[in-house]
Amino acid sequence: MPTHTITRSYKFCAAHRLHTDQLPPDVNQKIFGKCNNANGHGHNYTVHVTVQGELNPETGLITDVDLLDRRVKELIVDRFDHQHLNCDPAFEHVVTTGENLAKLVWEILIDQIPSGRLAKIGVVETRDNFFEYIGNPQP
Ligand code: NI
Repeated sequence: MPTHTITRSYKFCAAHRLHTDQLPPDVNQKIFGKCNNANGHGHNYTVHVTVQGELNPETGLITDVDLLDRRVKELIVDRFDHQHLNCDPAFEHVVTTGENLAKLVWEILIDQIPSGRLAKIGVVETRDNFFEYIGNPQP
């Protein structure tokens, strides 16, 4: 079945610290290394939002990009930009890894796609770290 996707990219800057209260300090240090340093550190994150859908024959488009952009800005960029991810309520008991950030972004956006459906979330954390998440489709 032929299919179309569009991927939009969004940027925000945020701090985080890889740490879990479930484990003792020395184990945190061993697992997360310098990413466990107490004061945290920052990243210039890029989030990729991939929408899959049917082509509208009149417009040649699969979704309303302007509306998608507004929603992602409001729900993702404005929420996380220049924040410390560990202070976000969603990360109170969840380690702020790229894996978990991608999953959270999926969960926030799953019912916010103007038309088409959310197909994948990508999170670029560093030059060498790119995380992707494909969650359950919208119920
Ligand atoms: Ni980091």
